[in-house]
Amino acid sequence: MTILIEQSDHFGAEVEAKTEPINERELVLDGGFLITQTNSFGHMFRAYNDAESERHEGVENFYRKNHTYQSIDFVKKMREEYAKLNRVEMSIWECCELLNEVVDESDPDLDEPQIEHLLQTAEAIRRDYPDEDWLHLTGLIHDLGKVLNLPSFGGLPQWAVVGDIFPVGCRFDESIVHHKYFKENPDYNNPAYNTKYGIYSERCGLNNVMMSWGHDDYMYLVAKENDTTLPSAALFIIRYHSFYALHKEGAYKHLMNDEDFENLKWLHIFNKYDLYSKSKIRIDVERVRPYYLSLIEKYFPAKLKW
Ligand SMILES: [Fe+2]
Ligand SMILES: [Fe+2]
Repeated sequence: MTILIEQSDHFGAEVEAKTEPINERELVLDGGFLITQTNSFGHMFRAYNDAESERHEGVENFYRKNHTYQSIDFVKKMREEYAKLNRVEMSIWECCELLNEVVDESDPDLDEPQIEHLLQTAEAIRRDYPDEDWLHLTGLIHDLGKVLNLPSFGGLPQWAVVGDIFPVGCRFDESIVHHKYFKENPDYNNPAYNTKYGIYSERCGLNNVMMSWGHDDYMYLVAKENDTTLPSAALFIIRYHSFYALHKEGAYKHLMNDEDFENLKWLHIFNKYDLYSKSKIRIDVERVRPYYLSLIEKYFPAKLKW
């Protein structure tokens, strides 16, 4: 079965960034991808021609909604709702296959199943860090939270699933892409939430900071509540891989504690590989599957609550 998600303005945008640094953060919504010369169809990335300006408007529109609606109240509501973990019971591998059913019609650079892109990231890490098996598995699972898009997971709109994430409850940093749209956010003029620290305190630790809701925080929640034995660096990567204001711009460091700084080193490493997929390198899923099943067995229960 193939589930077509509504004409999206984000997944496709993921791939646009890396060849044009000036507009990079305006266009990257979920990490970007390695600057490969060609995409799946053998064309240069960003070969949108006339479609390009249209797409750009789509990305901007995406962030207008995202910045308007991701308020502290919204985040609290989502956290409460999804903490119930009462929707589905399935294994990590089953979720990889489920994500496979999400076809992004809007993405001109993608004609391969999503599972291959998860595995491309994981396999690239495995090649360079053969001993860090936890990091291989992190590569495989970091985007599984995108199932939030599917009807059985609440069918959340795209502005609540993907895109850059940022803290709520304190001032929105100017480095966040399309910052101007925060003016429409109910928290923007609230003196409790619009100062440097807002409801937080110096070095309080990111674990105590509420992030805008999306696939990152959801997958973190699922992994943690199902008692994964993955190390804290893995959970940090899953939770903050779309936090570009932090790992690219260096904002919000005043909220980090020592453990966050340690984990951030791994996130910087991981990020290079998150930029990797959608290249022409094909992965033989059947060949690598036993290895990843063994990692899943090592770090997760057989069935997880989602
Ligand atoms: Fe992601
Ligand atoms: Fe990713």
